[in-house]
Amino acid sequence: MTAEAIVARGLTKVYGRLTAVDHVDLTVATGGIFGLLGPNGAGKTTIIKMLTGLSEITSGTATVAGFDVRQQPMHAKQHIGWVAAEVILDDDLSAWENLWLQAQLQRMTEWTERARALLRYFDLDERRGDKVGGYSTGMRKKLEIALALLHQPEVIFMDEPTIGLDANTRRMLWELIRGVNREFKITVLLTSHYIEEADALCDHVAIIDHGRFVAQGTPDELKARVRADFIELETRPPMSEAQLRELPGVLSIQAQGSGSMLKVASADETLAAIFARVDPRSIHRVNVERPSLESVFVDLTGSRMEATAGDVPDYRKFYANLRRAQR
Ligand SMILES: Nc1ncnc2c1ncn2[C@@H]1O[C@H](COP(=O)(O)OP(=O)(O)O)[C@@H](O)[C@H]1O
Ligand SMILES: [Mg+2]
Repeated sequence: MTAEAIVARGLTKVYGRLTAVDHVDLTVATGGIFGLLGPNGAGKTTIIKMLTGLSEITSGTATVAGFDVRQQPMHAKQHIGWVAAEVILDDDLSAWENLWLQAQLQRMTEWTERARALLRYFDLDERRGDKVGGYSTGMRKKLEIALALLHQPEVIFMDEPTIGLDANTRRMLWELIRGVNREFKITVLLTSHYIEEADALCDHVAIIDHGRFVAQGTPDELKARVRADFIELETRPPMSEAQLRELPGVLSIQAQGSGSMLKVASADETLAAIFARVDPRSIHRVNVERPSLESVFVDLTGSRMEATAGDVPDYRKFYANLRRAQR
């Protein structure tokens, strides 16, 4: 086993006139959980496809588990497992038959002992003869990971493993991914566009936007870069830039849709001033963002990672309640 599970240099993918992945340098330490975090269309899947040999590399180099993906594709593939974003299970087959099929695809002869151990580990042993069509989402996810682990890979790729899952199943899967990483001593490279997922799960994160890495580090390192809060503010009528500049603690102002994104030294200080100076009825939207991977992304790219800020508390409601309580 090499110290680095994945090394890519200048990794590039061009589709016609689109450079989907643009000279990416990537080093993933053996044994870790590495997250590629970025919005839809950033190039995450394309990177995984190049690293797993599913898509040709336009230029650059990549080694996985010590094997050059282009020069030694078969060796590399033997040491790689991959969990696709889309469903790969055959519903009409049982868990055991799905494992058998996977063993055939991997040209494995000795696989039954490993398969049994995996079923036990994932708590699927009792249901191994049942058709997968009747499994819960959580059980299906477990089986998908078991299939990817069957040939004992050293590195496992998971493309948006929790996309579309409810919060509970997502948390269950995080535990599972941590467990697999620990118990099977397997390096995990996963992609996500969920900030809190990368934060909770990954020991190292690369933020990707338009095919380029805009930042890399541990989640804490990345968050420490931004020593500021962000306030997303929309008023009707809109406040002028001069009015915004007069607010205390404003470091920078950026147009954001029909409102503004203010980078401020302290959200509490600036918010108090906003609510003191502006008629609260004119405030259409106000959200506060403390230093987070999302604010790192906003700081670096000037745009939001997630189109909807559903997880961000609505400070307008908060202040409305506060005022009501003070009456
Ligand atoms: N086979 C393809 N042909 C042409 N363009 C593609 C192909 N696959 C992906 N793209 C484009 O490459 C960019 C990156 O896509 P992708 O890697 O799937 O992003 P992500 O996984 O981060 O959402 C997108 O603009 C996408 O439309
Ligand atoms: Mg993708």
